[in-house]
Formats: sequence, structure tokens, C-alpha cells
Amino acid sequence: MSWWWAGAIAAAKKKSEGGDVSGKYQSVGLIIGVTGIVGSSLAEILPLPDTPGGPWKVYGVARRPRPTWNADHPIEYIQCDVSDFQETQEKLSKLTDVTHIFYVTWTSMATEAENCVVNGDMLRNVLNSTILFAPNLKHICLQTGRKHYKGPFESYGKIQTHEPPFHEDLPRLDVPNFYYILEDILFEEVEKKEGLTWSVHRPGVIFGFSPYSAMNIVGTLCVYAAICKHEDVPLRFPGSIEAWDGYWDVSDADLVAEHQIWASVDPFAKNEAFNCSNGDVFKWKHLWKELAERFEIENYGFKEENLSLQEMMKDKGPVWDEIVREKGLVPTKFEEVGQWWFADTVLGKGSLLDSMNKSKEHGFLGFRNTKSSFVSWINKMKGYKIVP
Ligand SMILES: NC(=O)c1ccc[n+]([C@@H]2O[C@H](COP(=O)([O-])OP(=O)(O)OC[C@H]3O[C@@H](n4cnc5c(N)ncnc54)[C@H](OP(=O)(O)O)[C@@H]3O)[C@@H](O)[C@H]2O)c1
Repeated sequence: MSWWWAGAIAAAKKKSEGGDVSGKYQSVGLIIGVTGIVGSSLAEILPLPDTPGGPWKVYGVARRPRPTWNADHPIEYIQCDVSDFQETQEKLSKLTDVTHIFYVTWTSMATEAENCVVNGDMLRNVLNSTILFAPNLKHICLQTGRKHYKGPFESYGKIQTHEPPFHEDLPRLDVPNFYYILEDILFEEVEKKEGLTWSVHRPGVIFGFSPYSAMNIVGTLCVYAAICKHEDVPLRFPGSIEAWDGYWDVSDADLVAEHQIWASVDPFAKNEAFNCSNGDVFKWKHLWKELAERFEIENYGFKEENLSLQEMMKDKGPVWDEIVREKGLVPTKFEEVGQWWFADTVLGKGSLLDSMNKSKEHGFLGFRNTKSSFVSWINKMKGYKIVP
């Protein structure tokens, strides 16, 4: 817990006097995407007794059945596909006690134009099933990301982006981007209820824990390292020299969750968009040593080789199954725990830094030490027996 967090707890307790919702809970959170990389952190942090705005009752939504690694969190798990309007309406409109929504989900389609349609429909379905049904709904947190400034994956390297460090006042780029669609839907929908507030959270690459995430860089690199160890081959850095030797910043999933909880309870954070990153810089060449050590690999490093993890890992499914069997790991699907395309995209280029000034100026002083964050998520992957 950072010192900011302790201060925020005291402030929130003071602010919350007299706002009791059900007698037992001060606030009721609905996490859309509860098994994802930030959803998992929210599911762990929100129910804690000293979380600002609490005590929190928590609902969590995802499509797949509840996985064992999520089962310890005291939340009500709801299996629901929010791209299906009927199902969403049927399951979410019943949750009349919800006070806060944490929208931390997305679906990846083949093109950004399709991303705009499908992700827009998902958010609209959730908001149309809650805003007018939950009379105490106060605030909606929408998580988007740094692609707000860089453009969608399909435009990388093809369009002129803003110059980093990115700050929140930069104008939108002139390309389709599902983040812009989500923001516009949010702005339009909150108008339906007086006093309803919103916040938008824009992390960079997220370090966190979730074997169900569509983009989990730490998890993906752990699976890669486990395969290198098993096959007794060097842990080669599968990225560019700019990625290896340049300055980076990333976003710890617990910090992103804290940022959203802060925006939920602090009046100074209402109706604003914020970047959310750790507040330090690092180099991958230093983290690579940590990764190698945790998987007991002595031979590791970088050579200019233009490696592609997608190419290197394409036949490794059976190897992964063997590792899972041999080491007694929680059964996982190789294609779910290793997002090779994502690692290639992230590590293929240098980093584009952002600025945390706006968050700090509005009162959020949370931060993370990225090296400690990286190691702690590796340890969590090991602790839950997702990797050896
Ligand atoms: N991951 C990163 O490094 C990163 C970095 C910056 C920004 N972002 C942005 O953050 C936002 C949220 O992404 P994330 O990475 O946090 O998510 P994520 O880790 O991929 O998790 C997605 C969650 O949503 C659930 N889900 C997916 N489709 C659903 C549907 N139709 N109905 C109900 N639940 C559904 C998933 O579980 P099921 O599959 O079981 O439904 C999972 O719980 C996205 O806009 C993303 O671009 C992510």
C-alpha cells in the first residue's frame, strides 16, 4: 500500500458520512471484465475492508465460467456476454443497487472499423442495462489506453502520432479508434441521469495477473521463459534495440485499479480523462535479467536478430501441454496464456512515454516501482501455478 492510498482511505471515510446504500455497504461496484488484467486487480482490491469508498459489495461480469484463480475474491460472479443485448439486459438490469461501474473489457476484431462497432455495442448494452435501472448509480470508470494518442494497432508506423510524452489535452488523431467511440458513447449516456459522473483511464502496457487477458505481456513472457528453460535454449529478447535499450514506462494493474477507485470517490477527479502509468522509467534489458533469474536461465540477452515470438512459438502448443503436465500446473490453453502477436507488437518498437502530471495535479499521487511490479507479477503467476 502506498502512502497516498492510506491518505485516500481517511479522506473517503470522511466524505462518505451519511451515504449508506444498503445498511451493510457504502458502495456497490460492477466490474465488467472481472477476470481480465485490471478486472482481477479490482476484484481483489475493492472488497478489502480499507478500500476508499467502502465497504464495497462487488459484482463481476465475464463470459467464461469462474476460473479457480478468481474464486477467492468475495464477489458475486455473473456469467454474461455483454455483446448480447438481451442477455445483458436480463442479467444486469436486476442489479439495482449498483453505485459504480468499472468498465475494463474489450473484444479484439480483425479491423479497427469492426472494433468500433462491436466494442461500441458492448458498452452501450451495459449502460442501457444499468443507468436507468440502478437509481443510486453515481459514477462510471471507462478504461481505454495509450492508443488514444498512438492510434490503433493497425495504424502503427503508418500515421503521424503526437510527440510523447503524451498528455491528456492532445487532440484526437484523424483515424478510426474504438477508444474515441467508447468515450463518445459514455458522454452521451451519462447525460441520461442527472448527477452521474464519469472518468476515463488511459494506461500504457499493463503489468498484471490474468491468464484470461487478451493482452498480458508479463504472462506471455513467463510462458516464453518457461519454454526456453524446458528446451534448454537461451532466453533471447524478441524485440528491437530501441525496445531493449530505450526508456519505457508501463502501468501496474493494481495501480490502474487504485486510480479508478480514486476517481470513483474523489470529487476532483470527476468528468475527466487521465493517463495512468507507474511514474518511473525502466529499460527492458534490466527486466530481462529478472525474468531470466526467476526461470533459472543463465544464458540470456539481446542480439539484432529480428525475432518474432509468433513465429518462434507457432508449434510449441504440445511443449506447453507437456510442461503443464510435468510441473502439475493449472491447465491452461497455450493460445490463451501466450499472446505472441502482442509481445511482438509491444517489443518491436521503442516506447512512447506519457505524463502523470494531470493525475498528480488532481490529487492522485500513487506510483509503482516497475522492477518490483514486474517481479511481483511473475511471482503471482508462479504462486497460482500458471507457470512453473
Ligand atoms: N492489457 C493491456 O496491456 C492494456 C494496455 C493499455 C490499454 N488496455 C485497454 O484496456 C481495456 C480493457 O482491456 P484489458 O486488457 O484490461 O482486458 P482483458 O485483460 O483482455 O480482459 C477482458 C475481460 O473482459 C471479459 N470479456 C471479454 N469480452 C466480454 C464480453 N463480450 N462480455 C463479457 N465479458 C467479456 C474477459 O473475460 P471472458 O473472455 O471470459 O469474457 C475478461 O474478463 C481495453 O480497451 C484495452 O485496449 C489494455
